[in-house]
Parts: sequence; C-alpha cells; structure tokens
Amino acid sequence: MRGRGRTTGSGGGVRGPRKNVDIRRGGVRLDDEGAWWVRAGHPWVYRKTLKHDAGSASEGRGGGLMEVLDPRGRFVGRGYLCKGGAVAMRILSTREAPRGVKGLVRKAVDEAVSIRESFLPPDLTTYRLIHGEGEGLSGITVDRYGQYAVVTQYCEEAGFMIEDICEAIGERTGLEGIYLQKRFKPVSEKKQHSAASLIWGRRAEVEQIIHENGMKFYVDVRAPVSVGMFCDLREARSKVYELARNRRVVNCFSHTGSFSIYAAAAGAREVVSIDISKKYLAWSKRNFDLNELDTNPHDFMAADASTGMARLSKKGRGPYDLIILDPPTFSSGKEGFVLKNDYPDLLESALEILNPGGLILACCNAVKISDDEFQRLISAGAVKAGRTLRILEKIGLPVDFPQVVGFREGAYLKAFLMAAF
Ligand SMILES: C[S@@+](CC[C@H](N)C(=O)[O-])C[C@H]1O[C@@H](n2cnc3c(N)ncnc32)[C@H](O)[C@@H]1O
Repeated sequence: MRGRGRTTGSGGGVRGPRKNVDIRRGGVRLDDEGAWWVRAGHPWVYRKTLKHDAGSASEGRGGGLMEVLDPRGRFVGRGYLCKGGAVAMRILSTREAPRGVKGLVRKAVDEAVSIRESFLPPDLTTYRLIHGEGEGLSGITVDRYGQYAVVTQYCEEAGFMIEDICEAIGERTGLEGIYLQKRFKPVSEKKQHSAASLIWGRRAEVEQIIHENGMKFYVDVRAPVSVGMFCDLREARSKVYELARNRRVVNCFSHTGSFSIYAAAAGAREVVSIDISKKYLAWSKRNFDLNELDTNPHDFMAADASTGMARLSKKGRGPYDLIILDPPTFSSGKEGFVLKNDYPDLLESALEILNPGGLILACCNAVKISDDEFQRLISAGAVKAGRTLRILEKIGLPVDFPQVVGFREGAYLKAFLMAAF
C-alpha cells in the first residue's frame, strides 16, 4: 500500500481491542479488555472478536460517529463501524469533547499540523500531513505534495469525515487543491485503479515539483496508484545519501528513481536503476534531469529485478557496494513479484553481485509481514547464497508518521541496513 502508509486494516489482526464486543442501540459496548485497549489509544476493533456482526449492525445507520462504552456503560471513546474487512470499528477519540464530527476533525487536523510545523524543515514540501491511525482519524491518510494534498480513504464508511477534513486542512495550510484516492482494497497491479478525483480547491497541473532535502521530484497527484513519491521512505533515502558517496549502487524496483537520485547526488560512482516498467524508468530519467544530474555513468534497466541483477553479473559488471531492495508486496505479469515467495531468490541474486562487506538496504512496507517474518525471508536468501548478513541499523518511519504506543500494526515499515559477508 504503498498505497504506502499503509495501515489499511484490511489484513489480519495482531493484538488490540478484542472479544465480546456487544453491539447495542446507540453505542458499542466492549468488554473490559477491549475497553482497555481503546483507552490505551488502539484505533481498531477487529471483526473476528465481535460477538455480533458489526457490519449488519451498522447497516441503515449510514456510518457516522458512535459512542463506545465499557461493560458498565461508561464512556470509552467515539468511532465508526465498518462493514467489510478485518477491522469492524475504527476509533477516532477517547476524549469526551469535542462530541461532533466537525470539532473532532478540527482538533485532529490542528494537532497534526502543529506537529509538522514544529518538527519538519520549512523547505520540505512533501510529507504525510495526517497519519490517520496515529492521529485520531483512523481510515484516512493525507499526504501533502507542494500546494496539493491527496486524501486516501481506506474504507467506505470513513467518507463522513472527508468534507470537514478538507475544510480544516484548507484553513490551516493554504493549499490550492485536495484530491481523493479511494483505496478500499489493498493495491493490486492486477486491477485497474481509478485516478484520484478533485474534492476541494483548484485542479492541479499534470505534474507538480516537490522538494525534499534539497532534491526535486516530479509527482502526479491525480495518478491512480502512486503519485511517484513515497514519503515514508524519507529516512531510508537520507541513509542512502549518507552511504552512497564513491560507492557503486544498484537500486532495484527503482520506481521514479528517488533512491537513485539521492545516491547520484551524494556522489555514487555508478547507480543502476532497475524497474520492470519503462514508464517509471523514463520518469526516473526526468527526475535526474530535474536535479541536473548527468545520467552518465548511471544506468536504467527495464527488467525484472532478479533478471536484471543476473544480467549485470553475466556482463561482468560489479561487484557493487550498496544494493537497495524495495519491492512491492505483489506485482502481476509474466515477471510479477510476490514478496512472500520471491524474496529469497531476489536476495540471492543481489548477494551474487555484492562485494564482501557490501551493504543491502532491504525495505518492506507490508502490514501483514512482521519484522520476524521479513527477517526469515532475508535469512532464506542469505542461506541460498551462502552468505552471512548482519543488521547494522533498522530505519524507521519519519516524524510525520506518528504511531500510537501499543499499536504494533502502525509500525508497518521495515527497512534494514545490512552488511553482507
Ligand atoms: C513499491 S514501488 C517501489 C518504490 C521505490 N523503491 C521507491 O523508492 O519509490 C514498486 C515498483 O516496483 C516495480 N516492479 C514491480 N515488479 C517488478 C519486478 N518484478 N522487477 C522490477 N521492478 C518491479 C514497479 O514498476 C514499481 O515501479
């Protein structure tokens, strides 16, 4: 997801408000444990833990805010019921006030904006403006791209908040326009996704230029799946900038080339960008031009990542010093990629062209794949290649992706910097 940022709640559950949730008229009653989790800030109540089906209970109510009560009928929070998916109820607030949607949304937007104003550098023009689950607006994320924002709606029932969100964001930020991307199902390259629709303000030009750490990138805020930049990888990109000088770098699943630009700008000796999509490779080259980076001695290869790395090996190119692996969870087609099945082979191919002591930056943004599971996939690749990998650093989400303490599902990004021997 990378509908990235991607705590969609469509997957299976970890811990959280659970069992014996009783749907009553006018409110949802949780058992003591469920109430404890909600009071602790956990924004999801899982469907599999419900006594009755919240889906049918919400029918006819048209979504909207409902009170959540403990077994003694005391106030626990406010949220809304969702018909499909693993999450039956999304909690928006555990405070008595404000009571209505408008007040609640305004408070969440004010808090989110003030965090960005305090912590983000003023010249950063792309970031997560509202990290829904972590900031009291579960089911919604908002990403800012220059003078535009994209609201991503992860469940149909979250729709009742969107108008108030746009109004509050408009007032606080002076944006020119806001687009809506509906993502009720996880991103799949199999199905056609619709373009984002303008829901507030002025229509955007086809392309915007956004700024991050002194670099520039083209984005298309109307694009169906990806606008061309994933804000959640900002720390990982900075790490690449720190490491790439004088190194030979391979960037697999390079997309619009953001990691490649950081590496080239840092003074990498060579950067090979590999992506299956010619469209994204062309976009990468334009991003190089935008940053006045010579595309020579760099290389752009339209290939499946493993096939591309095998080709580099066959041609006697390399060995390389830093390889970036940031695949999608799933991609379709003849050379499609399924993370759970294909990751060990991908890593084996990377290790074949990596220097001893060389570095791998392995990223995974799938909520459903835990840190442990990701490490198992990495280990399987290391065993195949007969190499040992040591984690030097785990790179987390940037400050504009705040996480509620105890909401483990929120820490969806795994980005390991590893040395290979
Ligand atoms: C999740 S994005 C990668 C994000 C990217 N690393 C970045 O920093 O923006 C997915 C990219 O993987 C590419 N892709 C999908 N399957 C692939 C494959 N088998 N080999 C190489 N690239 C692939 C897609 O074309 C798309 O550009």
